[in-house]
Amino acid sequence: MNVTSIGTILAGQAELGAYTLSGWVRTHRQSKSVTFIELNDGTSVKGLQLVIDPALESYKSVAASIGTGAAMKASGKLVPSPAKGQQFEFQVEELELIGAADETYPLQKKGHTLEFLREVLHLRPRSNTFGAVFRIRSEAAFAVHKFFHERGFYNLHSPIITTSDCEGAGEMFQVTTLDIESPPKSDGKINYHEDFFREKAHLTVSGQLEGEIFALALGKIYTFGPTFRAENSNTTRHLSEFWMIEPEAAFYQLNENMQLAQDFIVFLLKHLLERCSADLEFLQAREWAEKDLLENLKRVAESRFEVLDYTSAVKALKESGEKFEFPVEWGIDLQTEHERYLTDKHVKGPVFIIDYPKTIKAFYMKVNEDNKTVRAMDLLVPRLGEIIGGSQREERHDVLLDRIREMNLPEENYWWYLELRKFGSVPHAGFGMGFERFLMYVTGMQNIRDVIPFPRHPGYAKF
Ligand code: 4AD
Ligand code: MG
Repeated sequence: MNVTSIGTILAGQAELGAYTLSGWVRTHRQSKSVTFIELNDGTSVKGLQLVIDPALESYKSVAASIGTGAAMKASGKLVPSPAKGQQFEFQVEELELIGAADETYPLQKKGHTLEFLREVLHLRPRSNTFGAVFRIRSEAAFAVHKFFHERGFYNLHSPIITTSDCEGAGEMFQVTTLDIESPPKSDGKINYHEDFFREKAHLTVSGQLEGEIFALALGKIYTFGPTFRAENSNTTRHLSEFWMIEPEAAFYQLNENMQLAQDFIVFLLKHLLERCSADLEFLQAREWAEKDLLENLKRVAESRFEVLDYTSAVKALKESGEKFEFPVEWGIDLQTEHERYLTDKHVKGPVFIIDYPKTIKAFYMKVNEDNKTVRAMDLLVPRLGEIIGGSQREERHDVLLDRIREMNLPEENYWWYLELRKFGSVPHAGFGMGFERFLMYVTGMQNIRDVIPFPRHPGYAKF
């Protein structure tokens, strides 16, 4: 018996003939002369229509237990369908109930709100919307590796537990085995020397610093792993645990970094438009999605991203005549409303904002000659704002040391990072793309909690 998936069949890539298929029941409709079961095996939005003679013995004996959500195995023949709206149907010769589901199964035929589905994370991947989202997520992850592999970047597994704070923002989850009710103390302070790692440790907020170590050895690397931020942001764009892709390349300056970021986004978009078209079309038709989602993505995949320096961006915002909630002055961090204006109205597409004031960016960014701005680059996209944050790194030892001191960071934690600037230091650059932000952009999903299998955010870490 041939093996194939329903997705392969519906894509017209399987030959007609005999198969055994397994999956879950979406609908079960009985009449006197014929029974229809829509079977879905998770490989496509649509299911395959099973056509069953109600007199079939293996059907009759289990018919009463075949509710929506039940697991079945069916052997029979794939044939062209005479019915409208479907190319194929499956004539069942033998049916087996693998796991019954009764009428209390929460995902009945009627549609459910995304809010409701967030409460049943164990079942939501079986819904059409989340099936599509997570198939796209899987394909996107594969494409990330493909892109960097084809360009000669080595994949680096940076550590999840770390003793340095990359972004210097102190928004880290502590990792400890100390008894938090009565920690060991010396001189009135908690004695971390008695902690598991003999010092204070955290979950990483970014693999960049460790990535730089390897870029300055292997030339070009990228990380793709989970990162953790204990920032109290309960928004539709923030998670406490999210996945980030962070390439880092020795001898790259900001222009090459921007080019890499644009090529990366374009590669991912083209790959997904080609490989996930049915799922993307399904998502585009959801009531919350942009009606021209796919057209927009195609246009972006063919465009050149614009570049705007921060100072010009501030000027454009001030001259816009828009009423912003947060007033615009040179030196402020751009708020979502400002980013939205720049992408949606000023540029009408993705835009790199570069050369931000050093006071609002991390310590590791290369200081420009004006000594006021740094070689930062954020990529903003319409509807979402920032999806990439990156920079050319400060490769001058003394300037870097000054920055660490200026920002009151614990100098002793960065001794090794400084040492990289002592031995064979070179210009280098990199960026981080939030994988979930990118997925929101592609799928049109409006809440970041709906593009990660198990969202974690302030007040929530269930499952
Ligand atoms: O701009 P960020 O903080 O940059 C870094 O972490 C650098 N170390 C990257 C580098 O240069 N190697 O974060 C990078 C990206 C953001 O642009 C955003 O897409 C995403 O990570 N991101 C988040 N995504 C979801 N939830 C959060 N709380 C996020 N914080 C950042
Ligand atoms: Mg950022």
